[in-house]
Amino acid sequence: MPSYTLTVNAEKRTVSVDSDTPLLWVLRDHLGLTGTKYGCGRGICGNCTVHYQGNAIRSCVLPITSVLEGNIVTIEGLSENENHPVQQAWMELDVPQCGYCQSGQIMATVDLLSKIKNPTDADINTAMQGVLCRCGTYSRIRKAIHRAASIQDK
Ligand code: FES
Ligand code: FES
Repeated sequence: MPSYTLTVNAEKRTVSVDSDTPLLWVLRDHLGLTGTKYGCGRGICGNCTVHYQGNAIRSCVLPITSVLEGNIVTIEGLSENENHPVQQAWMELDVPQCGYCQSGQIMATVDLLSKIKNPTDADINTAMQGVLCRCGTYSRIRKAIHRAASIQDK
């Protein structure tokens, strides 16, 4: 089996996997980074969202060979003490219900706020519409995104 070296949360990691192995399974099964979740496996639900080269991507549909050039950031690498502004806002507003979708929601939010500092509700709806929550936490997510924007502004 071939070996690949990728950069995850600013660390070089080497794994031996088939060339078509999706990043999601590299993260979860080979690197033990289980904060990134499997939902649909087809790029539809957004639960597997991580960042690659500063942009949100769906790790279930990208093979390892497509993410070898830049840094991958997972929920585990977002902050050292869970004190990223988005994480702070999420805790303050007690956003999660079952929690399953929330790392995808948080990673998508970080991406949104890196591109739009103070998003409107319409911006939020557009950016987040593809990240599904079976528990329906959408209104708390929207409030938390506004709160995170204000924390980041300080
Ligand atoms: S698990 Fe990747 S988009 Fe659903
Ligand atoms: S909090 Fe349960 S799926 Fe979103």
